[in-house]
Amino acid sequence: MSDKKLITMELEGRKIRVPEGLTVIEALWDTGHDVKRGIGCLSGLCGACTVAYLEKGAGKVRFGLGCQVVVTEGLNVIMLPYFPSRVAAYRLEEMDDPYSRLPEVYPEVTGCTGCRACNVCPEWINVAEMMKKAREGDCAGATEPVMDCHMCGLCASRCPQSIAPHYVGLYLQRASARRYPIPPNLEERLAQIRDGVYRAKWDEADALDEEGLKEFCRRVREEPA
Ligand code: FES
Repeated sequence: MSDKKLITMELEGRKIRVPEGLTVIEALWDTGHDVKRGIGCLSGLCGACTVAYLEKGAGKVRFGLGCQVVVTEGLNVIMLPYFPSRVAAYRLEEMDDPYSRLPEVYPEVTGCTGCRACNVCPEWINVAEMMKKAREGDCAGATEPVMDCHMCGLCASRCPQSIAPHYVGLYLQRASARRYPIPPNLEERLAQIRDGVYRAKWDEADALDEEGLKEFCRRVREEPA
């Protein structure tokens, strides 16, 4: 049993007592909730575990990631379900200038009213600003801030126009990658993989049991790059 101080909070509408310092997801597990859906990396990277929470004495509901938000006395929190959004189908390899095709791929961007409701990003991305730039045709300017997007979809869940800024951002990231050449070191490594330079090593690893694999990984880590 933990010797940490216990706090009282409200989780999914139920008052519970949990040790302080836990994240929302740890608090769920600590109180016997067998939660697996909506949980992925537990490191604030996959964006699967969105939550809405109200801190004690606060007047405004905030949004975040359940694996990152730490529970506090009087916190009221719920896990948010997956939010459905339209995903456009496109083939970047058939586009000469994907940036210029944004209004065609995501025409709903032009319907953004600039209400700023989408500014709920747990990664502190200024989504409204990104959407404004995308709307005005400054796609390069819109791309930079979305590079940190975790695709949690919170922004889409708030948009009264049913726009999915995270998917717009994903398109912009892909368009940007297509616009700029692949770095030479990456190009070289990809060519080595294509030419089968690492094939023998993969086959060796593939045939190992768990202990052998651990030893293999230790050895590979110590090899000069
Ligand atoms: S579980 Fe991946 S961000 Fe929380």
